Amino acid sequence: MERLDGRVAFVTGVARGQGRSHALRLAEEGADIIGVDLPLDITTTHYPMAVEDDLAETAELIAKTGRRAHLRQADVRDLRALRTVIDSGVVAFGRLDIVVVNAGIFSLGAALDLDEQVWQDVIDVNLTGAWHTVKAATGHIRAGGRGGSIIFTASAAALLPPPGIAHYNAAKAGVNALMKTLAVELGPEYIRVNSVNPGNVDTAMIDNETTRRLFMPELEHPTKQDAEKPDSAYVRVNAIPIPWLESIDISNLVVFLASDQSRYLTGAAIPIDAGYVLKKA
Ligand SMILES: NC(=O)c1ccc[n+]([C@@H]2O[C@H](COP(=O)([O-])OP(=O)(O)OC[C@H]3O[C@@H](n4cnc5c(N)ncnc54)[C@H](O)[C@@H]3O)[C@@H](O)[C@H]2O)c1
Repeated sequence: MERLDGRVAFVTGVARGQGRSHALRLAEEGADIIGVDLPLDITTTHYPMAVEDDLAETAELIAKTGRRAHLRQADVRDLRALRTVIDSGVVAFGRLDIVVVNAGIFSLGAALDLDEQVWQDVIDVNLTGAWHTVKAATGHIRAGGRGGSIIFTASAAALLPPPGIAHYNAAKAGVNALMKTLAVELGPEYIRVNSVNPGNVDTAMIDNETTRRLFMPELEHPTKQDAEKPDSAYVRVNAIPIPWLESIDISNLVVFLASDQSRYLTGAAIPIDAGYVLKKA
């Protein structure tokens, strides 16, 4: 018997990166997966969003685990679209136990230089989208009367905000405030609410030249190999000398938070960052 046999999880940003990895680990542990990812690209980021083929590939990978997948295109900024996917997924799978609030975007700029649309897109996706997700999903957990687990993806940047990404820091700090509020409001119903706060994770969000230049401004065209060097800025910020975590490292924490092994853990903003926050503080 796996840790999540018979459970159903809803995952946002499921087409690739950490969201796909979370969905696969949850499925390997026995959960059926409802999920969404964007129908259209977002133009204020410096890297492309997932496409329909990525979503289809995630669905195939889930099917290979033997679990069921109900994945659709929907934007977390669109509450009605989210409700349609979640409601139809719950009709198909019969219940909802776990929500993984993972979809997010990243863009760069000094706080006072940020374009209004750049600011707004990050707040809309990373903070309002997170609230939409729990607003659309939590009623289904409640209806089951069995408790459940909500896991937000915030960021180490929420715990120790670096310069150059004020909008991202503010949105993710807001996610942690939302998480703590919900932990108290939903505790009486045995619905636990926590957040994972990753340091750098090797996904499309950071595996691009523009993000690398934030860390290594002295290089005109910083490569992934530059970032992996033992003395690179990526490595030096962490207590454990690695440049980044892998998605699976975050997924293993997500599975723990989703399972009954963490049954009295709620309201926690958990850093998973190779010691980045502690070393920087
Ligand atoms: N990669 C890192 O270093 C890092 C560090 C800390 C936190 N995070 C957070 O982890 C989460 C996952 O990011 P990732 O690293 O897997 O990057 P990613 O870009 O590979 O994945 C993000 C996914 O979210 C989707 N998405 C974006 N906006 C959406 C929207 N409005 N509606 C629905 N789907 C949307 C994208 O299409 C993509 O599939 C994000 O919340 C991110 O902020 C990432």
